[in-house]
Amino acid sequence: MSLFKRPFVFINSAMSADGKISSVERKQVHISGKADLSRVDALRAKSDAVMVGVGTVLADDPGLRVKSEPLRNARIKAGKPENPLRVVADSLARTPPTSKVLGQGSLIAISAAAPEDRVASLSQRTETLLCGEKTVDLPELLATLHDKGVRRLMVEGGATLNCSLIKAGLVDEIYVYVGALLIGGKDAPTLVDGVGFTSGFPRLKLISLEPLESGVLMRWAVAGA
Ligand SMILES: NC(=O)c1ccc[n+]([C@@H]2O[C@H](COP(=O)([O-])OP(=O)(O)OC[C@H]3O[C@@H](n4cnc5c(N)ncnc54)[C@H](OP(=O)(O)O)[C@@H]3O)[C@@H](O)[C@H]2O)c1
Repeated sequence: MSLFKRPFVFINSAMSADGKISSVERKQVHISGKADLSRVDALRAKSDAVMVGVGTVLADDPGLRVKSEPLRNARIKAGKPENPLRVVADSLARTPPTSKVLGQGSLIAISAAAPEDRVASLSQRTETLLCGEKTVDLPELLATLHDKGVRRLMVEGGATLNCSLIKAGLVDEIYVYVGALLIGGKDAPTLVDGVGFTSGFPRLKLISLEPLESGVLMRWAVAGA
């Protein structure tokens, strides 16, 4: 249990049957189909913020906005912004100024190690938030998001950020869509990379398991988060 106030945090990811979330080229692979993408869109629409690591921005350039117009309208009707806040964990301000994630309603979390010129250039397109010395301090970031009213944070990868968040005990639930394909490659990213675990392996409790399209959707609770 965290000792500070933070949002409810869940990871949503799609992986192949062999646990890979993209290929060795680190390029996006279409793992799920239309029904799963609609499910992901609905999860986004129900969240106050959506977060990725800068590795995902550099690899996939995601927009991280709600795609469905009815879902965006429902948010507006409920007095919320059209899209959840889009957050990038980016210690060195490496997010390219042309990234789709930028613009109003985005927040780039940087560290004190980020070069000033890159921060200045990003600040023209978005809000930057200093949090941490060499790398983004995730507990501090989550506490700040909570202060900003974020109660439900959806994490959309990638492998390295997932690991840091889980290691810090900051993840409550994990949704994994397991697609009916193999990707392979020992260097292809998996659901949880980073430094991994050699002891104290986080335990999960299965909340639900359902066939979806040609794959399976699993929802896990992370014990002790
Ligand atoms: N299938 C899916 O659902 C899915 C979803 C998302 C991504 N992906 C794939 O995942 C791959 C990207 O994953 P990735 O592991 O390379 O990148 P990532 O997890 O998206 O981003 C990792 C980067 O975030 C930054 N960061 C800042 N603070 C951090 C902290 N406290 N802990 C950890 N990282 C922190 C670090 O860069 P700095 O040190 O420079 O800050 C780190 O290298 C791509 O191939 C993408 O296609 C797949």
